[in-house]
Amino acid sequence: MQQRATKQVTALPQHVAIIMDGNGRWAAQRGLSRSEGHRAGVDAFERICEHAADLGIAHLTFYAFSTENWARPQGEVDALMALFRRQLSEAKRRRAENEQKRWRIRYIGDLRPGGLLPADILALIDEMQTESAMQNKTVVNIAINYGGQQEILHAAKRLAQACAAGERDATTLTEQDIEQHLHTAGQPPPDLIIRPSGEQRLSNFLLWQSAYAEFWFSDILWPDFSTADFDRALADYAARSRRFGGV
Ligand code: FPP
Repeated sequence: MQQRATKQVTALPQHVAIIMDGNGRWAAQRGLSRSEGHRAGVDAFERICEHAADLGIAHLTFYAFSTENWARPQGEVDALMALFRRQLSEAKRRRAENEQKRWRIRYIGDLRPGGLLPADILALIDEMQTESAMQNKTVVNIAINYGGQQEILHAAKRLAQACAAGERDATTLTEQDIEQHLHTAGQPPPDLIIRPSGEQRLSNFLLWQSAYAEFWFSDILWPDFSTADFDRALADYAARSRRFGGV
């Protein structure tokens, strides 16, 4: 924890995480289906991702589908899976472009084979992650079938197994041990978490990692979220005083 207290704080966040909320309401306001709202959400994702990477933000995390989103109507879940499939296939076609941008694409969440995500999506994810693994300018994390509580539970189980096998001593476990077993292992925690659409909650997103994150909320619905809105969030962030529990 000492490391966090003395962390170097710069005006530009190293890691920005975004809860892409408000697609459904955006669609309803226009008499469109919720799926069309999610499609517009993908355009916003691409716009903000591009802009943030151009600004030099090294880590981005987008909340695309939570472990709780499976409870939505089957039609909406299917439409979201179709959207992920399409987005992954398009990204595959644009491989040269991604290489030029030097983006490393990572998917975080429960990606275990035989789990809830369809096998073809898992295969596309695997391909995308392998192809971009050597890139190092911007890491783009897409959280899919992701739950913060489940992620911490998974880390705890792994550590408990290591202790039971005699590989670790429970009395010497540290916060770093938990961090090494999270999906975001090796990446800095988010400095700034943005949630549009008027809601002010974390919804099981990056629970461990957000311990010292700054939050920025706005009423704008995600499909309408502009690069100017993103810049406003950055300007507010730059004016904040981060003390990490110190004075
Ligand atoms: C929450 O808004 C949004 C989602 C559950 C889906 C977000 C997913 C995308 C924008 C697609 C992104 C795809 C990629 C590949 C990154 P909501 O539907 O709950 O909105 P509401 O609260 O207005 O109903």
